[in-house]
Amino acid sequence: MRQDINWGELGFHYTEPDYIVRAAYHDGVWEEPYATEDKFLHLHVSATCLQYGQEAFEGLKAFRGVDGKIRIFRWRDNARRMQKSAEGLFMAPVPEELFGRAIRLALEKNLDFVPPYGTGATLYFRPLLIGTTPRLGVGPGRDFEFIVIPSPIGPYYPGKFHCTTFVVNRNVDRAAPYGTGQFKVGGNYASSFRATEIAHAAGMDCIFLDARQHKYIDECSAANFIGIKRRLSADGQPCGEIEYLTPKSSAILPSITNDSLMTLAREMGLKVTRRRIRLEELAQMSEAAACGTACVISPIDKVLDPENEKIYSFGPEPGPVLTALYRALKDIQYGRAEDKYGWCDIVTSD
Ligand code: PLP
Ligand code: COI
Repeated sequence: MRQDINWGELGFHYTEPDYIVRAAYHDGVWEEPYATEDKFLHLHVSATCLQYGQEAFEGLKAFRGVDGKIRIFRWRDNARRMQKSAEGLFMAPVPEELFGRAIRLALEKNLDFVPPYGTGATLYFRPLLIGTTPRLGVGPGRDFEFIVIPSPIGPYYPGKFHCTTFVVNRNVDRAAPYGTGQFKVGGNYASSFRATEIAHAAGMDCIFLDARQHKYIDECSAANFIGIKRRLSADGQPCGEIEYLTPKSSAILPSITNDSLMTLAREMGLKVTRRRIRLEELAQMSEAAACGTACVISPIDKVLDPENEKIYSFGPEPGPVLTALYRALKDIQYGRAEDKYGWCDIVTSD
């Protein structure tokens, strides 16, 4: 294990691994993935990824468990989602098994970068698919490169499980209703910068509304949104059913973390509902959070709607339902609880 990395201090930043993994696609054929220490590409200036944004990426993690074993979480789902993104941008889909071999190779060549158990850090993989054909006429290329970049990372937001404030910005839309929001492509993130950079400068992050009406919650800048609704009795005490609510929209990324949390929420007896959620409904929620691979569950203390001079507050501390879900997910990822759903691939132990 690397002695020069302060695992407990890592944030969501790139740390140079020893190796990345690459595989090129030419004439309809993928080459076998190989590991290389070279982190630079020799890319034509007119490559379609540079000229027309023909690019997709993924994000997934490997965890060193309580038993010392390394678990990769739901990589097949990332492989399938990348195939959907590839279809969306007219790229050659990376075969699932090739994706898996590349992730495994990236892990095996960088075992020293898998953070120790108990530090809150993980080994993050950033699979990347780019169009490499030189082209000036507008259209997709026919050559591609698949790359897996591993990097040890810490929490996406500062602090391990702590609240973040989100702000609504109606001047910027992340993705159109039937645009590329459902795919994990770089352009969605570039188009968000105008809003996210303002929010980040104020120590916050963004919630994007549906681009058609600016009425419904779509998602957070790099995460899905979840809200918890509890019924209150006449004297204001929580009673009855607890509901896990998450937006349904054609413009948002189908989050693998959200899918996992919905499964765990059902197991805990929560009612899980996926539907359009009006921004004002935040006032009826007792807890809210962003969820995704990078941010896991990041509880929200407040959502600001400056245009309407409104603040939706959920309290300064993470609520009980989201805390229970966070623990349940982490327990599976770190091997502290049974992996009933077969989400983890145990790769190696030392
Ligand atoms: N939504 C967006 C825009 C994201 O960038 C991410 C991160 O990958 C997610 C949602 C969460 O998806 P997942 O849980 O699969 O990481
Ligand atoms: C992830 O959650 O893995 C992401 O890719 C989100 C973001 C860091 C781009």
